[in-house]
Amino acid sequence: MGGGASGAPTQQGGVDSESGAGSAEAGSGAASNEGGASPGSAGGASPGSAAEAGTAGASGESSSAGGRGTDSDSLDLRGIAADTLNHNPAPPGLGDARSRAVALLATWSQTQKLALIRGSSGNYVGNVPAVGSIPALTLQDGPAGVRYFSGVTGFPAPITLAASWDRALVESWGAAMGAEMRGKGVMIQLGPMMNLARVPAGGRNFEGFGEDPYLAAELAARDVAGIQSQKVVATAKHYVGNEQETNRFGGNSQIDDRTLHEVYYAPFDASVRAGLASVMCSYNRLNGLYACENPTALADLKTGMGFSGWVMSDWSATHSTVTSANAGLDMEMPSGSYFSALGTAISNGDVPQARLDDMVLRILTALYRLGILDDPPTGNSASNVNPSAHVDLARQAATSGITLLKNQNGLLPLDSSKKIAVIGRAGHSAPAFGGGGSAAVTPPYVVSPFTEIQLRSGNTVTYTNGLDSDAALAARAADVAVVFGSVDSTEGSDRPSLSSGVDSLVSAVAAANPNTIVVLNVPGAVLMPWLDQVAAVLVAWYPGQENGKAITPILFGDENPSGKLPLTFPKNASDLPQPASTQNVAYTEGLAIGYRALDAANVAPLFPFGFGLSYTTFSYAELKLHPHNSQGSVTAEFKLTNTGARAGAEVAQLYLSYPAGSGEPPRVLRGFERIALAPSESRTVNIELDARALSSWDSAHRSRQVLSGTYRIAVGGSSRDLPLEAALEVIGTDASAGTNPGTGGTGGTSGTGGTGTGSGGSATGGTSGNGTCDSPVDLDASVNTYGLLTTGAACFRTPLSFNAVACTQWAGRTLKINGAVVLCTGSQITVPPAIGGYSYFDISAGDSSYAAIGWFTL
Ligand code: NOJ
Repeated sequence: MGGGASGAPTQQGGVDSESGAGSAEAGSGAASNEGGASPGSAGGASPGSAAEAGTAGASGESSSAGGRGTDSDSLDLRGIAADTLNHNPAPPGLGDARSRAVALLATWSQTQKLALIRGSSGNYVGNVPAVGSIPALTLQDGPAGVRYFSGVTGFPAPITLAASWDRALVESWGAAMGAEMRGKGVMIQLGPMMNLARVPAGGRNFEGFGEDPYLAAELAARDVAGIQSQKVVATAKHYVGNEQETNRFGGNSQIDDRTLHEVYYAPFDASVRAGLASVMCSYNRLNGLYACENPTALADLKTGMGFSGWVMSDWSATHSTVTSANAGLDMEMPSGSYFSALGTAISNGDVPQARLDDMVLRILTALYRLGILDDPPTGNSASNVNPSAHVDLARQAATSGITLLKNQNGLLPLDSSKKIAVIGRAGHSAPAFGGGGSAAVTPPYVVSPFTEIQLRSGNTVTYTNGLDSDAALAARAADVAVVFGSVDSTEGSDRPSLSSGVDSLVSAVAAANPNTIVVLNVPGAVLMPWLDQVAAVLVAWYPGQENGKAITPILFGDENPSGKLPLTFPKNASDLPQPASTQNVAYTEGLAIGYRALDAANVAPLFPFGFGLSYTTFSYAELKLHPHNSQGSVTAEFKLTNTGARAGAEVAQLYLSYPAGSGEPPRVLRGFERIALAPSESRTVNIELDARALSSWDSAHRSRQVLSGTYRIAVGGSSRDLPLEAALEVIGTDASAGTNPGTGGTGGTSGTGGTGTGSGGSATGGTSGNGTCDSPVDLDASVNTYGLLTTGAACFRTPLSFNAVACTQWAGRTLKINGAVVLCTGSQITVPPAIGGYSYFDISAGDSSYAAIGWFTL
């Protein structure tokens, strides 16, 4: 939806949630198809690309306009608190909810506790029977709305929403889905899906928000906020590295620590900031260990990101009792194949009692915090939950995502006096709707494009759904041919190729009529070998039930297309990674996912990330940077003007280039705003970049840092059309070593940093310093009854001792802090000085098998 004049690139604050049950899975399919034809001729407005104009202003803190300044703006981040970079705030209401959960837990028997943390059979995809005063928990797919039940709205698929780049629209859609879930008696929605489209043929790309970590993070967080505004838990899935469906059950995603933090964790981290209540760990292995028993990944989530909710397994993705429980899995779904043995494991001393209590507390706290236990849903699977307001929203969402990729000679919008041939099955007999698997929804109907085009046109409209030769005949008899094509996609398998499935049909039609418009209902990128032969191309993604009512107003210019590609359309499939059929999938491209890879290799895409035309044109001008040292942020201000004759919305995008030697790709998206403008209207747009937006992940210290150096900020209408650019000199956190407290790592378990011996240069935040800690933390006061750190402590003094049952509980095992062995004797744990960077605890029986990580028992 429309754009505000100012934008902030970051998000909100998050929280937690709970459970579910179900039965094993594989993935089903189903989606859409092709077909159709008809007459008509061109007409209409001009294509226009976003780009243009714009000189870059780069002068000082409050400067005005002007071309690229010779003096860069500068931002000094030495004073920012380590917390700003490394910790997410606790969600509102967490403390109260936690207290209530603790009080209830104190009344529960062991049997009750053990009943809450695993699924059972029932009417929903996941079910946990009632425990004491807690009603039965109901979990239902999925990221595109309510699965399996009728009486629901068939919203467009998430990739369609992603193409809108519209935060407010995504939040409204999330709220509408949440309301329908609740109306059906669901407490826990199994979505959003926030894996990235690393491989363009990925079978689940339509369920997510595209290839860019920042775009996906921004939109996933709004989806979470919308769903949870309805007293429904959102479940962020699949954590993590579930980037292909080939070998999804146990394939090993090999992803380095920096890439995880900067790319694949990003949407989960943003969702935690938005109050996320639940996470689903994935089927795949991550760096050798199953995701649901991977202590590093789960500690990164709980301790690093500060996730207060609970982790449930994907359906049958649990592979152990003790290892999973101790690694941080909180709920097994859909049954209790492994967690039914948890009671015995606790009696044997293999899993601490505190771990079970923590599982239960996480679930209860999330349910209290979102208000679900005080106001449980009353609907059931038979309730009708699709009001007309949701139908309007579904149409608006489908419209907002439609992306115009080509419009030669202003063929679009269509002149209604022309004879139109609608061609292809997706044009009428099998109109596209959505994808398959757990993101499938049963819509009440799907509106046919042909039917709507007939209603809107003032002339003859024909429909052809047959041989290429029949389509060519129909096209020849018309002024304009509109060819509809669609591609199915589903969980469980990747697409076999990037074919649109209509290559020969389009070529046959285009040979018969140069005024050929191709409308594609696709789950992601497709190749277009016929691109030069056709006049126009529209990507309408998976449009949901309103299909024809979304595409027709765009075709005739009653609505102006404003979608932008949330993923790259490559010229060749080989330009981007393909699903690997080997068990080990090495993410060798690291940070260079999607457009970043093509930028780094200087390879031209077919259509770049962020690209989309309009029936009007926009210009960009007067970029100015306003650094705010006290807030540790910089605002990019620029002027956006609608230079054409039609009202339209533009998605203005901001890309950041890091200093040389940073290891970052050439450009990364760090801000965007969708702005609606009347003809000739101008708007001043502000996009704020905070210190996090400028940061990178320092694997050596396991914390975020901001490197000192020259950054470049570029603004425009796509990743390859950036007419404005300005430089920003940054004095980063690396310059503060020796003077600032340590960052304390991701874990919030406090850092030993301090002002100490850090020596300028590239040391991060003094995490390895061994000097004085300016603001020591009382560790005992910072750890709650269950051993969870409740503060984002930056540092504490060493040597330090505190009572710990752990020593006796884990006799014979080794306690490590960030890999360094810590003495554990009797009932005392003594943390010796100079260990540095306490981002997490490992308690292991040996170097390879963790018994616990990321939490602690007093
Ligand atoms: C497996 C899928 O991967 C997951 O996304 C879904 O929520 C569960 N099955 C339950 O259907």
